[in-house]
Amino acid sequence: MDIRFEQSDTLKEKPTGALGFGKIYTDYMFVANYDADQGGWHDLRIVPFGPIELSPASMVLHYAQETFEGLKAYRTKDGRIQLFRPEMNARRFINSNERLSMPAVPEDMFVGAIKALVDVERDWVPANEGESLYIRPYMFATEACVGVHPATSYQFIIICSPSSAYYPEGVNPVKIWVEDEYVRATPGGTGFTKCGGNYAGSLKAQEKAEAQGYTQVLWLDGVHKKYVEEVGSMNAMFVFGNTVVTAPIDGTVLPGVTRDSIIRLLKDWGYEVEERHMPIDELMEGAKNGKLTEAFGTGTAAVISPIGELCYKGEKAVINDFKTGELTQKLYDTLTGIQWGTIADPHEWTVEVEKQA
Ligand code: COI
Repeated sequence: MDIRFEQSDTLKEKPTGALGFGKIYTDYMFVANYDADQGGWHDLRIVPFGPIELSPASMVLHYAQETFEGLKAYRTKDGRIQLFRPEMNARRFINSNERLSMPAVPEDMFVGAIKALVDVERDWVPANEGESLYIRPYMFATEACVGVHPATSYQFIIICSPSSAYYPEGVNPVKIWVEDEYVRATPGGTGFTKCGGNYAGSLKAQEKAEAQGYTQVLWLDGVHKKYVEEVGSMNAMFVFGNTVVTAPIDGTVLPGVTRDSIIRLLKDWGYEVEERHMPIDELMEGAKNGKLTEAFGTGTAAVISPIGELCYKGEKAVINDFKTGELTQKLYDTLTGIQWGTIADPHEWTVEVEKQA
């Protein structure tokens, strides 16, 4: 893969204090253009991070043909830089783009571009505990036209942000508002994709939850408003003793990389994992009678976020005395241990970013 490199005249100072999440950006970004009449992807380049030029008529600004991914680069104690299952992000990006009538970025181009950019930016991968380089690949329609049709030109960009925990709460329980008015996804829609529109449509419920003193929303299915789906922008898992329940991947739920990895670990450890549509009444009942022993959200950004309280139609239920559960903590420690290279990686999930000469 041929990637042109354009040297920046000035390099930024590396941050010394708290990083926060997604606030600081590195020196370079990867950019590629797609033009149907030029045979597809061309002009792959790593250039200084900076503003992009777009026609005001660019189709993304009108009809939201935009998709994205999220993954992290981790620095190991011995100074290696590694990614976690980047091929899964590549495949999900292909599926998101297919659903939005956008072109595929081939898996080797997606992973190759990430590795090339992270290699250039390796000094930006933080060394402090709990910090990583958040990588944000995204694609959008650039064709200047306000007629509604799949665009004929696109840009694929990757930017990187040294970041710490996604939620200020870290791995501490949060209060969750069960949303029974707004919905996130419906069958046949875009719920399984990472498209910006899904997130835009979720903000109203998020504002509503926050106004009531809750951190995140628990989404119910878009047809019956009965079955539990996701929590905020994360997959949701519910522990009933030796059984863990999570919504199935059948069109409305995002196929999370963290979700998939946690299911694997749970099965390795002898847990029963049920991927099924669980009624909210069953969940609330379990929370009240104590059969629901732990609950948590899973995602790349926050890894695991324990759920300490649910509020549904004015009824409140506290889970595990609002404490981080033992299994939740073990999953967090194991997954992050594999990611930062402090414990063995039995499934060969990590991929090293080799240093190019
Ligand atoms: C995740 O990684 O869990 C997310 O989807 C959050 C991201 C939109 C910042």
